[in-house]
Amino acid sequence: MGKLDGRIAIVTGAAGGIGRGMVEAFAADGCAGIALVDLNTEGAEAAAVAAREAGSKTIVIEADVTNEDDWARVIDETVAAFGGRIDILCNNAGIATASSVQEMGLDLWKQMIDVDLTSVFLGCRAVLPAMLEQDYGRIINTGSQLGLRGAPNVAHYCAAKGGVHALTKSLAYEVAETGVRVNALAPGPTQTEMLYDLPEETIEAIRLEVPMKRFARVEEIVPTVVLLASGDGGGYYHGAVMNVSGGHVT
Ligand SMILES: NC(=O)c1ccc[n+]([C@@H]2O[C@H](COP(=O)([O-])OP(=O)(O)OC[C@H]3O[C@@H](n4cnc5c(N)ncnc54)[C@H](O)[C@@H]3O)[C@@H](O)[C@H]2O)c1
Repeated sequence: MGKLDGRIAIVTGAAGGIGRGMVEAFAADGCAGIALVDLNTEGAEAAAVAAREAGSKTIVIEADVTNEDDWARVIDETVAAFGGRIDILCNNAGIATASSVQEMGLDLWKQMIDVDLTSVFLGCRAVLPAMLEQDYGRIINTGSQLGLRGAPNVAHYCAAKGGVHALTKSLAYEVAETGVRVNALAPGPTQTEMLYDLPEETIEAIRLEVPMKRFARVEEIVPTVVLLASGDGGGYYHGAVMNVSGGHVT
């Protein structure tokens, strides 16, 4: 018996790093159907192959998580593909850019808030009717350890991720008396493309800041997501921000 036997999940940002890890872990734990949502369909198709090999049905949906109409399509296509239920939503897609506040253009700020925060609002709002109707759901929003503590040159990212944590807690209050659970994941620096997009000296500076002096592997992040996604074990986690950060305590 897997922890997620028979469940239907949507994972955004499924083509890469942590999202792909979620897809693989969900498949290994028995998810019956997984919708992989990303702008990068090639990467999502590759992740879907691994999930199918583990026994899950999959669909890949090319969608921009900042777009309201795309969200309506994601929900419709998932319901149509897997027979009506949506048990799990991972709002995980995100970007990382860098600039000091003083030098940051409004476009860079707005793009970050759109992709890393507004997308999470849109995803939660889009899935809620289905989850409330079935009186069951698990929403897991990917925040960040940086959203708990702040950092130089990424104020827009920290603000967006701090917003994800606050949105998660607020929605948790709104649905607490239903079968829907809403939590956030706050990973520390994790070995994915997002991290390695940064300049080498920045990467080394980040590594030295981590009390463990090393980055997380995706396999060290996703077990927490499986816990939050599960029916029994995950039932009393609600409005939590799960800090998985190698010893950074905030
Ligand atoms: N890697 C880290 O150190 C770290 C730490 C804390 C939090 N996070 C968060 O984890 C999440 C996953 O990041 P990752 O490290 O796996 O990075 P990643 O770059 O490997 O994956 C992000 C995915 O999101 C997709 N995406 C970006 N914008 C999109 C959009 N508008 N619509 C649809 N898809 C879009 C990308 O195509 C990509 O596949 C992000 O929210 C990120 O902020 C990452």
